[in-house]
Amino acid sequence: MKTPPLQVVPPTGPLLRAEHVTLEYTGSRGVVRATDDVSFDVHRGDRFVLLGPSGCGKSTLLKAVGGFITPRAGSLRLGGKPITGPGPDRIVVFQEFDQLPPWKTVENNVMFPLLAGGMKKAEARERARHWLGKVGLARFAEAYPHTLSGGMKARVAIARALAMQPDILLMDEPFAALDALTRRTMQEQLQTLWEEIGFTMLFVTHSIEEALVVGNRILLLSPHPGRVRAELNSHQFDLGSAGSAEFQAANERIHRLLFGDGRVGETPARVAPAHQALAVHS
Ligand SMILES: Nc1ncnc2c1ncn2[C@@H]1O[C@H](COP(=O)(O)OP(=O)(O)OP(=O)(O)O)[C@@H](O)[C@H]1O
Ligand SMILES: [Mg+2]
Repeated sequence: MKTPPLQVVPPTGPLLRAEHVTLEYTGSRGVVRATDDVSFDVHRGDRFVLLGPSGCGKSTLLKAVGGFITPRAGSLRLGGKPITGPGPDRIVVFQEFDQLPPWKTVENNVMFPLLAGGMKKAEARERARHWLGKVGLARFAEAYPHTLSGGMKARVAIARALAMQPDILLMDEPFAALDALTRRTMQEQLQTLWEEIGFTMLFVTHSIEEALVVGNRILLLSPHPGRVRAELNSHQFDLGSAGSAEFQAANERIHRLLFGDGRVGETPARVAPAHQALAVHS
């Protein structure tokens, strides 16, 4: 097999660059525009959150980054290279728990994509055990998914994704179906994993609180079709700060930016454009 030429990636460039991305669905009932002219950069180690109301195109954007949808206009690049289809460098974790084939044990679920990628069985097993250990599920390697709680299934899905060592982890509301307490625990565990491993993540949610807790940067999208309202820094927040006055103020400010309720005379039209990072202050 011919060795592919070395890809020269500028060391200072973003890992993922979305430029003027417009995404559409064409069906029997015409064209649906999901996002309109969306631009953002994700850097290595970012916990970058796409936040917006239902139907604003968050999942569609994630699918496009995953390579499952081609932009109608604009471009998506990973490491400087155009995204032209799915690849093992971008792994998606979904909200649905049935993303784990029920006939495979937890360990086999984690091993499966590694084996599909050509890895030897012994190495795949070792890697699966390592990552199951990281998410605290070493004891459940032989269990079947239906015997696990929702939170445990979510952890298996995260272990399976991280075991692939993708350049970027794409997460589409991975904790939305969990009860509030489990969701909190999962947010905490995701933070701990990130501190330990330092992976890059693109995380979709429509929960302002989750965005503040999980993300270090947040892109706010307008209702359908999704357009960029603002980009915020939120690295100062974590679960520990969730009840603080500063957190509450940030929460309220984001609500105003998203929905422009006019209470403070701040309408979306007056919000700073994308790429102009705003510190979250009240
Ligand atoms: N397969 C499809 N065919 C046609 N239109 C679609 C399809 N999938 C999504 N859409 C439309 O595209 C728009 C964006 O959908 P998308 O699922 O990306 O939103 P979302 O922000 O992820 O919403 P939610 O928070 O509810 O998950 C919506 O208007 C939706 O109806
Ligand atoms: Mg969605």
